[in-house]
Amino acid sequence: MKIFVPAEQREGERRVAITPDSIAKLSKIGLELVIEQGAGAKAGYSDEAYKSQGAQIAATSDVANNLASADVVVSVRPLSNEHVSKVKNAGITISFLSPVFDAPTISLLADKNITALSFDVLPRISRAQSMDALTSQALCAGYRTVLIAAERLPKFFPMLMTAAGTIPPARVLVLGAGVAGLQAMATARRLGAVVSAYDVRASSADEVKSMGATFLDLGLDALEGAGGYAREMGEDRAKAQQDALKPFIADSDVVITTAAVPGRKAPLLVTQDMAAAMKDGALIIDMAAETGGNVAGSIPGEDVTIAGQDGTVTIIGCRDVASQLSTHASRLYSQNVVSLLTLMTAEGSVIPDDADEVVAGSAIVYKGEIRNAMSREALSLPALVSEEA
Ligand SMILES: NC(=O)c1ccc[n+]([C@@H]2O[C@H](COP(=O)([O-])OP(=O)(O)OC[C@H]3O[C@@H](n4cnc5c(N)ncnc54)[C@H](O)[C@@H]3O)[C@@H](O)[C@H]2O)c1
Repeated sequence: MKIFVPAEQREGERRVAITPDSIAKLSKIGLELVIEQGAGAKAGYSDEAYKSQGAQIAATSDVANNLASADVVVSVRPLSNEHVSKVKNAGITISFLSPVFDAPTISLLADKNITALSFDVLPRISRAQSMDALTSQALCAGYRTVLIAAERLPKFFPMLMTAAGTIPPARVLVLGAGVAGLQAMATARRLGAVVSAYDVRASSADEVKSMGATFLDLGLDALEGAGGYAREMGEDRAKAQQDALKPFIADSDVVITTAAVPGRKAPLLVTQDMAAAMKDGALIIDMAAETGGNVAGSIPGEDVTIAGQDGTVTIIGCRDVASQLSTHASRLYSQNVVSLLTLMTAEGSVIPDDADEVVAGSAIVYKGEIRNAMSREALSLPALVSEEA
């Protein structure tokens, strides 16, 4: 069967869905790869590297034909509407695809009887760990964010004792202790910062401590949702959290926010007032800027400077952070794709079987039927019978 990887369409996206080291693994299960020319260039993978591993390179002028003939189309970001219109009827797509924010694309995929598998909703069970692209990309983003902070902060991260005096360590506060947040803590600790963190899930206190960071106990109720994720905050709870966090934020050199609730706009954790209480030169890095923002006034891909306690505070709105580590982010993503394809492939044919929990959970659209409950709600479709039961 033929797998096609088109070049990513979204501006600023540097990753590629399959890297050359995966080609032999695909071939072993009977799948051949065709990739658009130059698709791996921004991640450091040349057409020659793909060719030398046995992939076929398709000219950009031939993308439409390849979309129409491929059995599976794999990308990092969701396919553009134009690409969806060319994918063959009843084909298979694999990518990130938000069940809520990409609802219009989901509708188009369903119209073409496609089975659309999304890493955004892949069940996080131990059998599927090797396919968990949310985790692999969050690791890249969490690490990279701390490097951005270290580069932009006009201070050292580690404590230094020199003949010219002692430099205190930077104080880094991480809000949201999921995969990205924990990786940010580990990276900031490795650079020598003093790190503290807060999350609404009860289990996060131990996870934070295991990274060598201090968990801030704000004395608030935990907000545990389904599947190990957080629940959305009500207005009063949000206000209580903001009030309790304010002094810790004012005391930090760097605040990194990573909070998310599946299928919802990112929760607002840092108001303008809280940001303005920080010291001159302080940084706030909003990793959730692309999904609504954890910080008031943050803009994805831009710096916003506001007046602080005694100078200026910069709010950095993240955009495409994992993509900034494109070589390794792509390599990990590619391995996630290969693992998912391997699960679904028998005798050289990719056959997604919805009797498998991993396939059923990932298939936002299965053979043209929109199966994901959040997508159905976003598209004002009635719930499926099995959801009502
Ligand atoms: N294979 C697996 O079993 C597996 C893999 C990865 C993650 N997980 C678990 O899944 C869960 C979610 O991880 P994720 O990184 O995808 O999370 P995420 O990206 O959905 O959210 C990031 C973090 O933000 C936190 N958050 C939400 N609202 C908040 C608020 N108001 N204030 C502070 N923090 C808030 C969440 O609790 C979460 O820890 C975690 O429990 C993680 O350990 C399991």
